[in-house]
Amino acid sequence: MASGEVVHQRGAEGVECGGKEGSTSSATSRRRWDLLRSVLLKKEVDLREYADITTRTLADLQLFSKEKIESGDGYVKVRYGVSNACSLTLKQSEEQKLKVKSLSELRTRESDADRTGIVTVWPSEEALGYVCSKRAGAFEGKVVVEVGSGLGLAGLAIAATTKAKLVVLTDGNSDAVSRLRENIALNAAKFGDTVVRAEKLDWSDAGLRTWWDETSVAELGGGVDHVLCADCIYHKELFRPLSGCLDFLLTRDQQRGTECWLMCPNRHGGHSLFLQVLGETAEDVEDSGWTIPPELGDHHHQKTTRESRGLEEASYPRLCVLAKKKEKKKKKHY
Ligand SMILES: C[S@@+](CC[C@H](N)C(=O)[O-])C[C@H]1O[C@@H](n2cnc3c(N)ncnc32)[C@H](O)[C@@H]1O
Repeated sequence: MASGEVVHQRGAEGVECGGKEGSTSSATSRRRWDLLRSVLLKKEVDLREYADITTRTLADLQLFSKEKIESGDGYVKVRYGVSNACSLTLKQSEEQKLKVKSLSELRTRESDADRTGIVTVWPSEEALGYVCSKRAGAFEGKVVVEVGSGLGLAGLAIAATTKAKLVVLTDGNSDAVSRLRENIALNAAKFGDTVVRAEKLDWSDAGLRTWWDETSVAELGGGVDHVLCADCIYHKELFRPLSGCLDFLLTRDQQRGTECWLMCPNRHGGHSLFLQVLGETAEDVEDSGWTIPPELGDHHHQKTTRESRGLEEASYPRLCVLAKKKEKKKKKHY
């Protein structure tokens, strides 16, 4: 084992992480997220305090078959079997590990979001892609916008397995957007009549307005039917901008009944904290609560009950559907 590396186990984020083999380790996971938070906030960190948890191997939920088909200078191409008939190829970082050295690379240029999205496909993205591919009918003829797409597996799975009209993959990090464009080009033959684009969308107010003025959604669809968002509830400072962004997308065309599908693990109570922020900042948004969708029921049961390598409940991704409250019909007076 290289120095700094640790024995891997399934940890609280649905990824492999360090600690004693055979036991779950929410404490390890918590410290690792504290470290990530400090890095993202550009704080000085004494790495000696984190020496035992500074490498984490990123695993997946294995909802899709996965095969490495090519590797090159700093990248690998991985083929995901997103349905019996269809596979997608995603270009991603070579090493499916977060190391402290590379953590500093997650810091961003001034005007960019962090780089967590280009490291790997996070388990929530995989779970969301899986659920969407099982609900293909919901997307027929629809306009779909994914925010914080990272490598874009969920949006690409919709483009490849459903008859959506338009799928716009977005991220606030420029490198992620470039990678999304590469991934769209790699899979273009699979999309049929669905138009697929990648655009830079920052959740801040200014970012939203600029994006909406230029987006292909306004040009091609006029409104949004489905908003997708996987593993974007991880950093408290981002809760308000993310909430503002989702509210903005939910209100583009009030007649459409836009729904937002959020998929995320419950990292340190983030589920209810985020909904609280949403309640304070967005008007009239209803949420379904956080649930395990039926499509993931057996999988969730298997993953969380296997004694030695089980995921903690909190780390299994859950779905929450957001929509604007329907206007109550005014009572008629005769
Ligand atoms: C943990 S990653 C999740 C990526 C992907 N959805 C997945 O689950 O694999 C969080 C994503 O949010 C994006 N992000 C963070 N802050 C953002 C912001 N202010 N505006 C837009 N995107 C942002 C990052 O670039 C990153 O791709």
